[in-house]
Amino acid sequence: MKTAITEMFGIEHPIIQGGMHYVGFAEMAAAVSNAGGLGIITALTQKTPQDLANEIARCQDMTDKPIGVNITFLPSTTPPDYPAIVQTVIDSGVKVVETAGNNPKQVLPYLKDAGIKVIHKCTAVRHALKAQSIGCDAASIDGFECGGHPGEDDIPNMILLPRAADELEIPFVSSGGQADGRSLVASLAMGAQGMNMGTRFIATKEAPVHENVKQALLDASELDTRLVMRPLRNTERVLTNANVEKLLEKERRLGSDIKFEDIIEEVAGVYPKIMVDGEMDAGAWSCGMVAGLIYDVPTCKELIDRIMGEAHDIIENRLRGFLGTRQTVAAE
Ligand SMILES: Cc1cc2nc3c(=O)[nH]c(=O)nc-3n(C[C@H](O)[C@H](O)[C@H](O)COP(=O)(O)O)c2cc1C
Repeated sequence: MKTAITEMFGIEHPIIQGGMHYVGFAEMAAAVSNAGGLGIITALTQKTPQDLANEIARCQDMTDKPIGVNITFLPSTTPPDYPAIVQTVIDSGVKVVETAGNNPKQVLPYLKDAGIKVIHKCTAVRHALKAQSIGCDAASIDGFECGGHPGEDDIPNMILLPRAADELEIPFVSSGGQADGRSLVASLAMGAQGMNMGTRFIATKEAPVHENVKQALLDASELDTRLVMRPLRNTERVLTNANVEKLLEKERRLGSDIKFEDIIEEVAGVYPKIMVDGEMDAGAWSCGMVAGLIYDVPTCKELIDRIMGEAHDIIENRLRGFLGTRQTVAAE
């Protein structure tokens, strides 16, 4: 399949694996890229810029296909060394960066000068328009369904994608709630040029996470995510567990007086406990409603080939079939 996104990033299929903390390691990104999508390494999971350089090099040893790096700008009192991270990405020769969390204005000129394509993840059309105006090459439109940070507007992709299509000139991919060939065709129909998946890629053979995490996704339904940190205006969609319910109880009890320190136990340092140790009640970790559409743990190649096969079948047979019926009726 050929779209503006496959052409821009030099990939075979219009499918991107979004940056994921403690999931976006070399194994994950290489598996997605080798399957014809765009795999993305998550910069902030690496403790130092040198570790990031090593991780990118490890990934480049596993694939000769394009890969990307996610740089997430977080609200933080002690921010990571973003200039060093950006320089590391430039020096590595990686040609795609996914930015997220905040406007990437400060780093954009350096990335663009190095010939890097920048896709910015946005949860609102106004953010995507801003990204376009400062020179981002593409946008990833993250609907309310998404795992991770859906923003505070709560607009699902059924509205957000066509709204983005109505406003944007740069190409965009759908993100949030995407799982299969139906998702891809629907995204294309609503104006996207491809799709970005997070949660679905965690339930793959190559995802470098504890087996308990994959099992939790198989067991979960679309009813099992919760929104946490809403009172702090840092909303995150996570999979429910004992500590998440405890966190929500604190939010109810403390109301608008709540501070980050009140919930630090349920949110800080949780990722290694979940992703590495498989302690599934440890606390809040990002997970999308799309968990309800995850029924198996294929390889990334099986998953992507299946999505592309389904998408072709839907377009060629199911959708074309509807047109045929109408034409017949009209001819009668
Ligand atoms: C476990 C997990 C960790 C994530 N970590 C990050 C991150 O560090 N930076 C980021 O920009 N997005 C992060 N995301 C969001 C994904 O890149 C993607 O936008 C989102 O998962 C799409 O929604 P979906 O899960 O419904 O596919 C994370 C998502 C998950 C599930």
